Amino acid sequence: MITNTDLEYKGNLYPNHIVKYIRDKDKFYFTTENGVILEVTVVQDRTIRFRYATEHTFPPDFSYAVDPNARRGYNRLEVLETKTEYIIETSKIQVLVDKKSLRTQISDLEGNIINEDELGFHWEENYEHGGNTVKMGKITQHSESYYGMGDKATHSNLKGKRVSNWVTDQYAYGKDQDPLYKAIPFYLGLHGGKSYGIFFDNSFKTHFDFAHERRNTTSFWAEGGEMNYYFFYGPEMYKAVRAYTNLTGAPELPPLWALGFHQSKWSYFPESQVKDIAQKFRDEKIPCDAIYLDIDYMDGFRCFTWDKTKFPEPKRMIAELEKDGFKTVVMIDPGIKIDRDYWVYREALENDYFCKRADGPYMKGKVWPGECNFPDFTNPEVREWWAGLYKEFMVELGVHAVWNDMNEPAVMEVPTKTAPLDTRHNYDGHPCSHRKAHNVYGMQMVRATYEGVKKYVYPKRPMVITRAAYSGTQRFSSTWTGDNVATWEHLWISNVQMQRMSMSGYSFVGCDIGGFAEQPSGELFARWIQLGAFHPFFRVHSSGDHGDQEPWSFGKEITDIVRKFIELRYQLLPYLYTMFWRYTREGKPMLQPIVCYDQEDTQTHFRTDEFIFGEQILVCPVQEPNAKGRRMYIPRGDWYNYWNNDMMEGGKETWIEADIDSIPVFIKAGAIIPKYPVQQYVGEKEIEELVLEVYYTEGAENSTVYEDANDGYSYENGKYSLRNFKFSGKKNELTIQQFKDGSFITSYDTFNIRLLGLPFEISKVTVDNEEVELEEVNFDQDNSIIISKDFTQLRIRGKKELPEEDETGSTNNEDE
Ligand code: NOJ
Repeated sequence: MITNTDLEYKGNLYPNHIVKYIRDKDKFYFTTENGVILEVTVVQDRTIRFRYATEHTFPPDFSYAVDPNARRGYNRLEVLETKTEYIIETSKIQVLVDKKSLRTQISDLEGNIINEDELGFHWEENYEHGGNTVKMGKITQHSESYYGMGDKATHSNLKGKRVSNWVTDQYAYGKDQDPLYKAIPFYLGLHGGKSYGIFFDNSFKTHFDFAHERRNTTSFWAEGGEMNYYFFYGPEMYKAVRAYTNLTGAPELPPLWALGFHQSKWSYFPESQVKDIAQKFRDEKIPCDAIYLDIDYMDGFRCFTWDKTKFPEPKRMIAELEKDGFKTVVMIDPGIKIDRDYWVYREALENDYFCKRADGPYMKGKVWPGECNFPDFTNPEVREWWAGLYKEFMVELGVHAVWNDMNEPAVMEVPTKTAPLDTRHNYDGHPCSHRKAHNVYGMQMVRATYEGVKKYVYPKRPMVITRAAYSGTQRFSSTWTGDNVATWEHLWISNVQMQRMSMSGYSFVGCDIGGFAEQPSGELFARWIQLGAFHPFFRVHSSGDHGDQEPWSFGKEITDIVRKFIELRYQLLPYLYTMFWRYTREGKPMLQPIVCYDQEDTQTHFRTDEFIFGEQILVCPVQEPNAKGRRMYIPRGDWYNYWNNDMMEGGKETWIEADIDSIPVFIKAGAIIPKYPVQQYVGEKEIEELVLEVYYTEGAENSTVYEDANDGYSYENGKYSLRNFKFSGKKNELTIQQFKDGSFITSYDTFNIRLLGLPFEISKVTVDNEEVELEEVNFDQDNSIIISKDFTQLRIRGKKELPEEDETGSTNNEDE
């Protein structure tokens, strides 16, 4: 073992032996002889916080990432002291603190080491800026893989890579380019079939090295602030993500329209163009719920104003669009034009809301309107003011949602692309420079936006979109991945980015479908729509300085394909909404790379393309031109090909046909997939019947359908409808039991149950023990049967009678 005295090289300093130990309820303090304090907090049984101070002092404890409503508390907490170490044990894990070196080791209760310090905590004094560069070194375990870290445009398994977090406006970024728009310092480790997460809650520029510099070590460090990280034990990956999401928060349910298809461009103007685009959607019968106005709707790019020559009567236009089923989403940027005749500028100036440089002058930067000042969104008073600015837009004009762009903040014509590092920030009463506030600036802007939008669209639900984000931003806003490019490589990047964001607690995410920069071919556009239909935020956006990028811009064949997939999206809305509900309640990632779905299968550890949409739909995009299909890995278990209902046994790589009008999609055997009819926009039709597609298997599976009023907050008072279906199949029989909760009354009274893959001919159907006339069952077409939504048990038998028996059992019960 390396001793600390060997390590005092290159200016690195290390803690030495522990001389003092104090326990304060769920907190443990270990002080070393050379003045380092380690504070260990048991947040939950699987969540432990490690925080280190040097020189005997902790700065005030403050975090923008941590959700004030995060659940805390543990079931068991015991401490043991031995000659060489302290041992803290919860009902899930054991944390060991070495008395000689302050190094820690975390194991499960069977004694398997999950995570272990190598060099552990060490630091370097930063003479240029003051404070420390704080560092943590961990042992890379045998065959360990790494995932997460937000929007990194690189292989999903981060092993061997080094990445940094510094939110950056990266126009037309490339594969492996780093950093991008988000700073999400959270990763997942996986080894020996067990997974954990680590969240380094430090808003300075951070760096992570995953066995890149040295094969057997993984380290992370920050250019200031504290070594302050959280450990989340899985052992299932999704549970580690869930614990991280519990800590940093999940969003509330969005209005259902936000999950429909959205069309955007930089920029649609004047009003007549916006109207034409909207009309074309309806004429072409391509569903669409929202249309976006980029910066050109503003008067000289002044936020909260309108260019009245392009949009003479925004209120009327928005109302007319709304009548037609379109929501209007407008852009708001952080840069406020320096213009004494502009009321927003004047208000900010009079109230001293703009950021200042270290020596006093206002921080100035060029953006679209020319020279701008930038509100200090890390000041709570500024956030309140900013939230109030939305009143006119939301209440008077009827704007439905807001997207915040350029909030890194992006600054033009300077090599750093952002504010000077000496810019001062309030940081909620912890004054600091931009070095510390940069990564949270956009987050605090969109937080203020969210608060304003939420207040003024009430009693409806808010919908907000942001480009920049730090951990925790998911509580306030959806996001997109910035200025991508219309290339096949970017289709690959988008696929990886969405999965990665989802595994980083940020599931409400999408990309500019078709690419922002440059022009996609029709084929690329179609392939991208096919993938985007399975992303939580589903929006086409482009820079507008090349050809058109609307669904009908690439000829009839492509238009038909695009329509088909947007229609599928609308059919799957109840499934997607249920996924979202689960995400909001449990923090379960909405998209799971297949490693998360089956982490014990090592075949999944280096796969990038296949992912699970929700819990039961497997998707794998085609990412090459001229393809008639592709090879893909089907995870273990039985899966139905969505397009032909052929069942396939997983656990192998195989060729799957997918001509230009198709994308490989598989449904987990046993799943019950809810579907709505195609609508041109959410709420166009009253849902008269819920289709339930039942994929037979010999075995058990649980499925859920969550519904509510699709907007508003009545669901918080119990007005929701939650249906849990327990499927259980035998050779000659299948049973579906329904368990209901909630007082929302759905508009439909019946289910249309479609039985797929039945291996037997139906001879008897009973609903709640009453036999149904077989004529009522539509055998010929699609084995469908229409029954009351209130049934509790549906049993279908094949020719040979089996003895009666009660069915129970499930495959995917949550353990908590
Ligand atoms: C940059 C954004 O990423 C892009 O989506 C937008 O169209 C332009 N800014 C113009 O507002």
